[in-house]
Amino acid sequence: MNFDTSCFSQLNLPSEVINQISAAWQYSQPSFPVDGVYFLQEDYLRKMVDMTKLQKEAIPVFMECGAKIHANEALARLAWHCHWMLHIASHELQEIGVPWRITPLDCTFFPAIVNLAAFPHVEAWYRQRGIPENVLRDSLSVVSVWTQYFMEQNGLWGCDKSWMSNHVVPRIFRLHRLEFEFSSYHSPFKIYRHDGDGRLAMLAPPDQKVFADGFFCQADQEASYTTTFTETETSVTGYPALPNGRLANQPVTLPLNEWSLCAQSGDPMLGVHIPAVDPLDYNECKAAIEQARDFFPRYCPEFKFKGFACGSWLLDPTLQDFLPKTSNIVRFQSLFNLYPSPDGNDWQTRERVFGNPDLPLDKVPLKTSLQRIVHDQILNGHRFRSGCMFLPR
Ligand SMILES: CC(C)(COP(=O)(O)OP(=O)(O)OC[C@H]1O[C@@H](n2cnc3c(N)ncnc32)[C@H](O)[C@@H]1OP(=O)(O)O)[C@@H](O)C(=O)NCCC(=O)NCCS
Repeated sequence: MNFDTSCFSQLNLPSEVINQISAAWQYSQPSFPVDGVYFLQEDYLRKMVDMTKLQKEAIPVFMECGAKIHANEALARLAWHCHWMLHIASHELQEIGVPWRITPLDCTFFPAIVNLAAFPHVEAWYRQRGIPENVLRDSLSVVSVWTQYFMEQNGLWGCDKSWMSNHVVPRIFRLHRLEFEFSSYHSPFKIYRHDGDGRLAMLAPPDQKVFADGFFCQADQEASYTTTFTETETSVTGYPALPNGRLANQPVTLPLNEWSLCAQSGDPMLGVHIPAVDPLDYNECKAAIEQARDFFPRYCPEFKFKGFACGSWLLDPTLQDFLPKTSNIVRFQSLFNLYPSPDGNDWQTRERVFGNPDLPLDKVPLKTSLQRIVHDQILNGHRFRSGCMFLPR
């Protein structure tokens, strides 16, 4: 068989996918190991099953996908191409793009297997820094998290989420219940810290319309006031977030001989993510943050992060109005300093609570108390909106 791009004809790939692959095929194929691709060997795949803590029921499907790719040279060359483009190609070549989130010939684990080809590199990176292996295993377990999600969405075992590639770069680490990402601060809020007692003041950007409830206006809402932000040599004046996660309706002035800038847009930050596994246990989350405060300075001292940041539906402070104080979500919020998101809306709340953000309200599942709360309160006219948090390092 001729292994130029004509070999794709047997893989039933869409033409746009073939075009993108064809554009870089000539670069990846000279290094294709004709004696066998290391990441398609049975031993390697078994090790990945172990490292990713793959669900018992999903293991046969994962192994079958690997064997199928291994046995079919066109598939093996495609897997090599995707791996080469993701993990080896120069940044310039990567600009061409690689459509690796594909499931050719029903290989539903094709994207996961391609991603896990980077394992030797990741393992070496962890070893070089002396990071304990359990952190690597916990971090790679993201594959099983998204395998569960794939099952819930498609009724089949598989894994195609691009998120997992962050764990093999590596850019994201799982510590206890939470994931932490090398990131930078994206928010337009400026955060000041009192030099004496460490109090924080999180000041909103200027010219934002704010509704009477202390959240930023959505398109159909009338502003109660518009934010201002002014900076002189001796002070800053702006609208601060209140402890309840809403904006104050009066500005404050902070003298700069008492307050210092603690974080602003672009600063290195640890992004916090909440994987969809297990209840959001308060003590586990607290332990995760404590461990992160020790872990990153110890193993990644070059990453001089200013603190922890996150934007999520789980940080919507109005959830506190409806859930009991004992709920994990409410207790989770109490770990952080909350502030409103300028573009916060209920898209992610509906996605995460109902499994599909586009379901009409008369079709959403109503099994859990939160599903019933979100359903009833949206009908009552309440607006849920994702919120943000900051925690100094
Ligand atoms: C984070 C998470 C584990 C919290 O669940 P939890 O620990 O059970 O939280 P709580 O104790 O506050 O739950 C209170 C109620 O809401 C329900 N609930 C919580 N999260 C829910 C969700 N995503 N969908 C539906 N119901 C949910 C609980 O089942 C419980 O209902 P019950 O009273 O009928 O038993 C859960 O929401 C989850 O797995 N989310 C997916 C991950 C995610 O959203 N990540 C953030 C992306 S930015």
